This record gives sequence, structure tokens and C-alpha cells, in this order.
Amino acid sequence: MNAAAIPDRNLALELVRATEAAAIRASSFVGLGDKNAADGAAVDAMRAFLGTVAFRGTVVIGEGEKDQAPMLFNGEVVGLGSGPECDIAVDPIDGTSLTAAGRPGAISMIAASDRGTMLDASSVFYMEKIVAGPEAIGVVDIRNPIGENLRALASVLGKRVGELAVGVLDRPRHQVLIEEIRAAGAGTRLLLDGDVGGGIAAASLEGELDLCVGTGGSPEGVATACAVKALGGLIQGRLVARDDDERARGEAAGLRFDTHYEADELVKGNNTFFVATGVTDGPLVAGVRHRGAIIRTESVVVRGASGTMRRVLADYRAERWV
Ligand code: FBP
Repeated sequence: MNAAAIPDRNLALELVRATEAAAIRASSFVGLGDKNAADGAAVDAMRAFLGTVAFRGTVVIGEGEKDQAPMLFNGEVVGLGSGPECDIAVDPIDGTSLTAAGRPGAISMIAASDRGTMLDASSVFYMEKIVAGPEAIGVVDIRNPIGENLRALASVLGKRVGELAVGVLDRPRHQVLIEEIRAAGAGTRLLLDGDVGGGIAAASLEGELDLCVGTGGSPEGVATACAVKALGGLIQGRLVARDDDERARGEAAGLRFDTHYEADELVKGNNTFFVATGVTDGPLVAGVRHRGAIIRTESVVVRGASGTMRRVLADYRAERWV
């Protein structure tokens, strides 16, 4: 019997209930201008559903330190306590400001991998990242100038540079990067927030982006790596210290700033899981739809061991969510 014929457990198919629940709860706050209320509702829902999953998940990337975040804080252990030991990265809403403003691109996400395999980059806020599909491996490199990367990517994709769509967070720190992308002839898709969804959209087959590049959160970089590795895509990251203190804290935690991290260093091994559910419409998934008696969610469910990415549409009965 070949490996594909031996079914084993897909933890992500259970974890997706937690992101669906978080997205549904957050959806009540879309456009209401209160990002903390949206996040709080998503955290509560995610935590309740994580508690039903037979695993022992240690939150490596969570909502911050225990004192500031009563739930899903770094180091918290979640799950039923039986089953596999995992590292988990949670972001009940990636795009809290987008949710509060009623803008596209907010998702709820969880990544999981074997215990001890996720890079703990929590002491350094930012990471420069470059993410693309499988064709980019060995072709695109974070150490190369962006124009060179775009020409190489276009060539391997059989496109003109002018046909490439490049996701970049719309931030003043990216002004030069954005100018360089445009000078090379490619088009930017400026993301107001949410570079996890952007990165996965760049790495996946049907994504609207060919490349996602620039500096965003380092926890988001590690979580993105769980999905991108499973999709066979390219992800590289380079930690960026905001000041000398942060650099010293990072170095004390064993992190390095002189060289970049490859995908296998962001998350070791292939036993990775990633789930994301749309809160608002975005490049990866549609947002939550409230349609009379039904609440519909769209999610992606990714399993590293097989490289399978599923899209899951779930219709919930609205009366159960009042
Ligand atoms: P939150 O919703 O958790 O605030 O994160 C949104 C986000 O846009 C991430 O996707 C991204 O990695 C990070 O913030 C970028 O940070 P900054 O807003 O400081 O540029």
C-alpha cells in the first residue's frame, strides 16, 4: 500500500472548527470600529473550540504575554490533553483593524506543528519576508534585489514582469520597495493589513498574488511558513530589530539577525497544519456571510504531510449563534 492510501489523522480538519467559530463571532463586530471587542470575541470562541480537540497544544505564538492577554497567551497549553504534543500559533483575527473598519482581508488562523519545531521569534516584532509558489524555489531569494527576483519569477512562471501581482503591506517603511517593484514593471497590490493571507495567496495555486514581500510581524511569518511549506512554496524570513534593545533581547533568545531563515528553520519538519477562515473577504478566502437562517464560512485547511489544501464551506444554523 502506498503512503497516499494509508489514511491518518488530519488535525487541521478539527482545528478548522475553532477558526470558523472565531470568524463567526468576529463577524458581528465588522465595521463597528472596536477592534478589541472583535478580537476578544474571536479569542473566546477559538479557545472554547480548541478545548474540544484531542491534542496537547502549547501556544508558541499567541496573543502576547500572560499579563496582557488573559487567554491564548504564549506558553498556554490548550486542547483535551490527550493525543499529539504540538506547537501552535494562533491569531484569532489577523487584521483586527480591517475587521473594525469593515475592510477586506481579515482572517482567523491557527498553525500547528510537532512540539518544539516552531521558531520562537516572539522577542522580535518584525520579520522581512518573501513568499511565492513552488516555482520560485531556487529562483527567488531574499538576498537578491527585488527587480532581479521579479524578472526571475516572471521567467519561471512564463509571464511578463508586467503581469506579476505583488502583495506588499502599505506602510511608509515600504516606500522604496514599492517604487522598486513598480520600476521593475510589476504591479503592487497594497495590503492595508494581513500579510498571512497575502503570503498564502502568493504560495497557492489559485491565489491572486504571484509574490508577497516586505516586513510584517515575525509571529505571522512563522505561521505563514506552516502553510507555505505544506504547499511546497517558497518562504524566507529575515528578522528586523526595531532598536538595539530588541536586537539584544533577540540575540539573548538565540535568534540571529545576520542571516535569513529558510522555511525549514522557521518550522522544522513536514508535520505542519494550517487553517484559516475568512472574517472579511480577502485574497485567500471569502468572509463570513450572514444569509437569513444560515451563516456561511469559507476556510482553507492545509496539511503538510500530504501537501493537500482543502477549501471548506460550512453552513451553520444562525439560530445556534445568537
Ligand atoms: P493584527 O491584526 O494582529 O494587528 O495584525 C495585522 C498585521 O497587518 C499583520 O498581518 C502584519 O504581519 C502586521 O500587522 C504588520 O505590522 P504593522 O501594522 O506594525 O506594520
